[in-house]
Amino acid sequence: MEPLLRLTQVKKRFGGIEALKGIDFDVYPGEVHALVGENGAGKSTMMKILAGVIPDYAGEMAYKGRPLRLKNPKEALDLGIAMIHQELSVMPELSVAENIFLGRQPTRGRVVDWRRMNAEARRILEALGYPQVEVERPLGDYPLGVHQLAEIARALTSGAELIIMDEPTSALSPMETERLLALVRRLAEQGKAIVYISHFLEEVTAVADRVTVLRDGEKVATLRAEETDKSELVRLMLGREAQFFERAELAPRARAGEPALELFGLSRPRAFEGVDLAIYPGEIVGLYGLIGSGHFELAETVFGLARPNAGQIRVAGKPLRGGPRRAIREGLAYVPPSRRTGLFLEKPVYQNVSLPWLDRLFGPLRELAAAREVTHQVGLRPPDPTRDVGAFSGGNQQKVAIARWLVEPPKVFLASEPTRGMDVGAKDEVLSILRRMADAGTAVLLVSSEPETILAAADRILVMAKGRIVAEYTSGEVTKEMLVHDAAGKLKKTA
Ligand SMILES: Nc1ncnc2c1ncn2[C@@H]1O[C@H](COP(=O)(O)OP(=O)(O)OP(=O)(O)O)[C@@H](O)[C@H]1O
Ligand SMILES: [Mg+2]
Repeated sequence: MEPLLRLTQVKKRFGGIEALKGIDFDVYPGEVHALVGENGAGKSTMMKILAGVIPDYAGEMAYKGRPLRLKNPKEALDLGIAMIHQELSVMPELSVAENIFLGRQPTRGRVVDWRRMNAEARRILEALGYPQVEVERPLGDYPLGVHQLAEIARALTSGAELIIMDEPTSALSPMETERLLALVRRLAEQGKAIVYISHFLEEVTAVADRVTVLRDGEKVATLRAEETDKSELVRLMLGREAQFFERAELAPRARAGEPALELFGLSRPRAFEGVDLAIYPGEIVGLYGLIGSGHFELAETVFGLARPNAGQIRVAGKPLRGGPRRAIREGLAYVPPSRRTGLFLEKPVYQNVSLPWLDRLFGPLRELAAAREVTHQVGLRPPDPTRDVGAFSGGNQQKVAIARWLVEPPKVFLASEPTRGMDVGAKDEVLSILRRMADAGTAVLLVSSEPETILAAADRILVMAKGRIVAEYTSGEVTKEMLVHDAAGKLKKTA
């Protein structure tokens, strides 16, 4: 059988950076071909070439046996190649159906044929196994798994034969992830070819037929998924071993002084209710919850981005009220769960770093010097703070969101999903940055929906479900299963 698509010796340069150094890659109809590699390895770049997003490159591409040179994404789409990007491109205000047919709504005369559009949207969602989604409702009413679904449905209605998914599960709950993986398998069974990029190696070995590993723009190996495992993939990706945290042994810590952060009965309608919490200098408290449990909203509220309707926040004993400027002045720092909301992609790294400190840093030279120092600490690659944030790989953008808070050590660091989209090596690096901050006296609240992240770093673990803290672990062994069980137990019963 001939591959649907084949790349031969594909190379791509961005200025001085060789992002791809001569890659051979192919994907067959009915196959899920996973692509893994460290942040910046070249995964997204390669897929953007496949999808016509990057038209200038060296090397050959063949589609259905014929040479192909794509000039733009539209051309790719017309040929049946669709890409679902790392950052989704849906419109939450529009209906589910409108999102599926974005830009190519069926028309009758010159007006949109709503009935036909809704009926077709309903038909395709049913075929995908989601009959309960109401296609007339705004997409924004639904969780991220459905946004992802809308993009897949959009690709399918456009007649895609090759679907490229760039980190499709990075914002999904475990249940949504499971459904997505099942959907991907079903699409392959229907003869679609799928390229699947993910940092979650368990997913990769579960869903893929073959796995290709990239490192520094080179192909290290292409393996059959059933003949490899997580540890081998990590070794190939990083060139070394890395630890996985499926369990943690917590030891109670001696606490010095007064809490850095205290919450008393903090509540925000439809987000969380009656949260009491105290974090001491030097400790990392993990706050685990499923997406939608209110844990991200809690961090956001403490930082002053939303107003609580009841309760109190105290920082080093003093009541805190007001917005983020005030919070920063009182020694709070915050990383939002989505890097899109916290970064200006079209501005250089150093201006992103100095953003919270504009009243303190004077002039580009001082800003640049500060940025060099902190981006070095987080291991930004390439280590150039004058490049626009948008020119960095996803994981490296995330490092910028953290680096900015290293300019001045905060009293309290609220870090929501600080390792999202990071490869295993970079995750280790970021978590050890949090540890160094804690050792220097910062109180860290690590908010995450990834149990591994929490288990790898926390001294104490809280679990949130449906807006309330439902469990606390201060000592002894804690496993991934325990956390997931605490967080999901209640949900399961009602479902
Ligand atoms: N538009 C661009 N301009 C300049 N350099 C770029 C651009 N896009 C990517 N690069 C560089 O190319 C290299 C590969 O980046 P790419 O986004 O393909 O990595 P990735 O494997 O997808 O990483 P991640 O897992 O972090 O998403 C990186 O060094 C990155 O900085
Ligand atoms: Mg990428």
